[in-house]
Amino acid sequence: MKTISLDINYQEFSSIDEMDPKDQDLIREAIEAQKGSYATYSGFNVGAAVLLEDGTVVRGSNQENAAYPSGLCAERTAMFAAGANYPGKAMVSIAIVGGFDHKLSEDPCSPCGACRQVMAEYQTLSGKPLSVIMFGTKKTWKFAKVDDILPFIFDSFNEK
Ligand code: THU
Repeated sequence: MKTISLDINYQEFSSIDEMDPKDQDLIREAIEAQKGSYATYSGFNVGAAVLLEDGTVVRGSNQENAAYPSGLCAERTAMFAAGANYPGKAMVSIAIVGGFDHKLSEDPCSPCGACRQVMAEYQTLSGKPLSVIMFGTKKTWKFAKVDDILPFIFDSFNEK
């Protein structure tokens, strides 16, 4: 038996002004996307923006429903829209913002497990790292690849 440790590196920014201009732009797109959030049941509004390899940005926001499981998170709304409308184009980055009542949280808005799994699939599909930016007004985190937020990814491609 041996104990193995994982070492995950990510960047923390106290202001988005410290970030790469492309990342700043993507965060601003996610903030715009949050305006489209329909979260009448939870009151928590999330916006996401996906950057494709050719520079296209696809926005998404959480969409809730009276039949609760019928709703969808902002990240998957954005990624599925990107996959559906731009098939074959690699997703290179995703920015996420969130907060109650259309405000922005102080802490980074962290994606749920199901959204991480979908990010992993698109990253595997493209063979290029998909970076993940979690925005907060007090601090923002950037992860270089999905592996850093979903270690031991389930990947059916491994079995082939
Ligand atoms: N939500 C997202 O849009 N993304 C996440 O990663 C976590 C949660 C949404 C789902 C629901 O509409 C609301 O936030 C409260 O859970």
